[in-house]
Amino acid sequence: MLSGKKILLGITGSIAAYKSLQILRDLKSMGADVQVVLTPTAHRFVPPLTLQVFSGRPVFTDLFDPHEEVLHLTLAEKADLILIAPATAHFIAKMAVGLADDLLGNLLLAASAPILIAPAMDVGMWDHPAVKENVSLLQKRGAQIIEPEVGPLASGKEGKGRLADEKIILERVISLLASERPLTGEVVLVTAGPTQEPIDPVRFISNRSSGKMGYALARVSREWGARVILVSGPTLLPAPPGVERIIVRTAEEMKKAVEARYSEATVVLMAAAVSDYQPVAVSPQKMKKSGEALSIRLRETEDILAGLRLRKEKRIIVGFAAETDALVENARKKLFRKGLDLIVANDVTQEGAGFDVETNIAQLIDSKGRITPLPKMSKEALARYILEEVVRLKTDVS
Ligand code: CTP
Repeated sequence: MLSGKKILLGITGSIAAYKSLQILRDLKSMGADVQVVLTPTAHRFVPPLTLQVFSGRPVFTDLFDPHEEVLHLTLAEKADLILIAPATAHFIAKMAVGLADDLLGNLLLAASAPILIAPAMDVGMWDHPAVKENVSLLQKRGAQIIEPEVGPLASGKEGKGRLADEKIILERVISLLASERPLTGEVVLVTAGPTQEPIDPVRFISNRSSGKMGYALARVSREWGARVILVSGPTLLPAPPGVERIIVRTAEEMKKAVEARYSEATVVLMAAAVSDYQPVAVSPQKMKKSGEALSIRLRETEDILAGLRLRKEKRIIVGFAAETDALVENARKKLFRKGLDLIVANDVTQEGAGFDVETNIAQLIDSKGRITPLPKMSKEALARYILEEVVRLKTDVS
């Protein structure tokens, strides 16, 4: 799948650097032509000779390593993709400020190829605001981050910071480089995050939702070649690169935004946790405490998804069902009531499947009754499974 693709693999000085040997072998086995560049500290963790043998090419570190051309410019121009795995907190900071004190730093400034970064560091470092800001700055500039995993770390601690699994890294490389982008020509409309229904100017009713699932769907749809419109409730997440984002607040605003863009869409993914209720009356002033129990009258919001079925035509429509009991039965009812092609059902009481976590445990149920139970995985990996189903359903429809 990667035959003829030129990948520059940048390795930086993390204990996880030993895993780059497997990444290199995987890339080679898929047919990629891999050029390895090490930072000076990476030498301490991984043997250049082994990398040279595995890649079948000389391994470079220094700007002035012997080469007949201007090394950093040549390497930058030749690459179809630059993968930095593992990327240390220090190297990420260097990239954020554009420092060029070694070969890898220099060639990154000269390169126009897509950049994939797989960070690896201890949990406290990954959580540090400086690292967070640097990562988000790189994302804004278009670099893609392969989120580190949660698990045991070299320090003996447990937490987020482990280099992503080699298979996930390979999958990301493939989805960026594989010539076949399965959603090319499609327009994917995604909803994400919660909605907020105001009670008064300072209070609202909402649903628990980080927006991460919807944002992962938007990001992967874009990677797979689709034009993506993301209608998002309030979240702190940055817009995925290349995605058109429309920010809304209430269920009503989300409904209007979805309906306004629905005619363009060929695929609709309703990952938003839309509030089912809104206050009947919104107080224009902040409500004061009276010392007594307070009742707020609520009415149901309109079901955005159910309203779309009247104009469904050949569109593929996917809904979500976050349940606490009778998962499959409840999800199936929703699938038929809302006229969906597929529903992603998850039991939010299971560990690793709730809100504000990086992972999810889901079952995919289609309108023909096919049920695909999936193991616990990152929301990004789940997004890929969902989109694979969408591609399959699209093929059935056409
Ligand atoms: N949904 C929607 N509009 C609403 C409520 C939900 O479009 N007003 C969508 C969600 O985005 C999701 C699906 O419908 O894709 C299921 O949402 P959920 O809240 O689980 O279903 P409800 O129909 O509200 O059922 P209940 O809350 O009774 O379980």
